Amino acid sequence: MAQDSSLPDFWDTRYDSHVMPWDAGGVPARLAAHADALRPGSRILVPGCGTGYEACFLASRGFDVLAIDFSAPAVALAKSRAGPFAHCFVEADFFAFDAGAGFDVVYERAFLCALPRRMEDDYAVRMSRLIVPGGTLVGYWFFDDNLRGPPFGMTGERLEALLSPAFQRESDEPVEDSLPVFAGKERWQLWRRR
Ligand SMILES: C[S@@+](CC[C@H](N)C(=O)[O-])C[C@H]1O[C@@H](n2cnc3c(N)ncnc32)[C@H](O)[C@@H]1O
Repeated sequence: MAQDSSLPDFWDTRYDSHVMPWDAGGVPARLAAHADALRPGSRILVPGCGTGYEACFLASRGFDVLAIDFSAPAVALAKSRAGPFAHCFVEADFFAFDAGAGFDVVYERAFLCALPRRMEDDYAVRMSRLIVPGGTLVGYWFFDDNLRGPPFGMTGERLEALLSPAFQRESDEPVEDSLPVFAGKERWQLWRRR
């Protein structure tokens, strides 16, 4: 299988062969609870959306959702099970797509940890440009000192260094319903754009 997770081919081969240990197959509990706190009509981006369970959930709650992934098989899988929300899914590169107006919310799960570590700074800068002042970057981050990935873990200090120039952290909680690949090593956090 392809080995460079910065390229679509890495992910295409895994989706095509249904090797997806990151795929929750449903909506994580903390996101489900958080949806109640979101302003109705919020514009939400789900980057690296994979098979799209969370994006469909958010769209079903009436939010204005754009879910992107640069893997064509991932987007095809997501659209095939999205029913009336298939239009929310677009094949696009997080670092290059035309976002139009900014997003009120970006939902993170297993996206930053999917990127090679050399791309972490670009992730933080791109997020700061995509999210409107007062908007939020919210979801799950993976913390580990593993050398090989994906998933590529990081320390809390490293995430703070990446995001704090443009964001203020408002929540940091343990996660109870992690998949085995993330168990004990992921946390729910909410970062507000300054
Ligand atoms: C580990 S998977 C997680 C998928 C999904 N977020 C989930 O929780 O099931 C990482 C996803 O990010 C996508 N991805 C990686 N780099 C990307 C990029 N630059 N632009 C868009 N999608 C990207 C991959 O194709 C893959 O679907």
